[in-house]
Amino acid sequence: MNHFEYGPEGLACEGVPLARVAAQVGTPVYVYSRATLERHYTVFRAALELAGIVDPLIAYAVKANSNVAVLKVLGDLGAGADTVSEGEVRRALAAGIPGERIVFSGVGKKRGEIAFALQAGVAEINVESEPELNLIAAVAAELGVKAKVAFRVNPDVAAGGHAKIATGKSENKFGVSFAEAARLYANASNHAHLEPIGVACHIGSQITDLTPMRQAFSKMRGLVEQLLAEGLHVERLDLGGGLGVPYFNMPEPPSPAEFAAMVAEVTQGLPVKLAFEPGRVIAANAGVLVSEVIHVHERPEGKRFLVIDAAMNDLIRPAMYDAFHDIRPLVPRAKTEQGGETTYDVVGPICETGDTFTRDRALPSLAAGDRVAFMSAGAYGAAMASEYNTRPLVPEVLVDGDRFAVIRERPSYEDMLSRDVVPDWV
Ligand code: LLP
Repeated sequence: MNHFEYGPEGLACEGVPLARVAAQVGTPVYVYSRATLERHYTVFRAALELAGIVDPLIAYAVKANSNVAVLKVLGDLGAGADTVSEGEVRRALAAGIPGERIVFSGVGKKRGEIAFALQAGVAEINVESEPELNLIAAVAAELGVKAKVAFRVNPDVAAGGHAKIATGKSENKFGVSFAEAARLYANASNHAHLEPIGVACHIGSQITDLTPMRQAFSKMRGLVEQLLAEGLHVERLDLGGGLGVPYFNMPEPPSPAEFAAMVAEVTQGLPVKLAFEPGRVIAANAGVLVSEVIHVHERPEGKRFLVIDAAMNDLIRPAMYDAFHDIRPLVPRAKTEQGGETTYDVVGPICETGDTFTRDRALPSLAAGDRVAFMSAGAYGAAMASEYNTRPLVPEVLVDGDRFAVIRERPSYEDMLSRDVVPDWV
């Protein structure tokens, strides 16, 4: 459930008509619903607790939507943070999420990033390879601390979904091999500056079938049992993120309750605490991207392009993953005005054919100046935006009931150009 509904002034986010935000902030603009973020986190947590999972660490995947205001909304509810760069660790800390609720993952953490995370006292650094383990040990020794590490294990399970976001097969770059995990864990246990506390896995994103997750989690259970049997200390099993969301045209994904029941069944009796890294399931349907139609360009051959002011740099998912986002007019035109639906290719102003959000989509008839919302854009939307074509980074707005605030401003052209430096020898 989310809080984007049509009201008397058109499509609204909670009590704020999106047209009002667009008029005040301009377009394109991302708009997030605080109530939806809170609801998704609360539903996820309640589902785990109801399934009997005691005191889970829910480390929200910052990469999905990393705005500090969004992180603070979730952090204030008790969420932790799954981070993959020093920048994300800094964002989580800036939002008031304490180090002990921060997980630091990623295949290529640099020395400085590891040092920063250790000094921030993160809950666990998820180790993705043997060379990385050695680097963490070296940095911890230099700092004179003991690094809490969890081994991210590649369970060699195909998650289904888009190849660009599948992570759980051994051909993917993520995690240590299943076969090597126990040896590395045992070695690390004997190191003066390493404290292995658990194992982790994450097999992909937008997963709509629990079967591969069940398979991967069962393998992880077996590994935990093996480590415990070897007398090693294991206190946490981190099961990653990946639960899919309904994108309107997609198969209905399993609910958090079904997911939690499966996890409870697979991990029953295992004497470790569980951690989760949900991103999309918390943020996707809590946000929309609002854009304005610049032109309707009809070709005599029959194509009709809806040229809008958002582009692939603002929302890259359709170009990158062929992702489907439902597109809704903020104010549906009266049936009598133009009537019915029209088929459009919805495109942005960027000079690439890939800057196409959708082809031959039947939409309510639209005209220049009308505004539309890309639904389910709260995750991997603004977080993946760029300034390609020197387009200002799209601003973000957070709604709370009938008030709203800009939580990231659109940069001015002066801001953007001031970052470039022309050396005096040019
Ligand atoms: N944990 C780890 C280690 C991850 O790599 C990811 C996502 C997550 C958690 C969160 O997964 P989620 O619950 O959001 O599925 N940009 C792509 C998605 C990339 C996901 C990358 N890793 C998209 O727009 O579909």
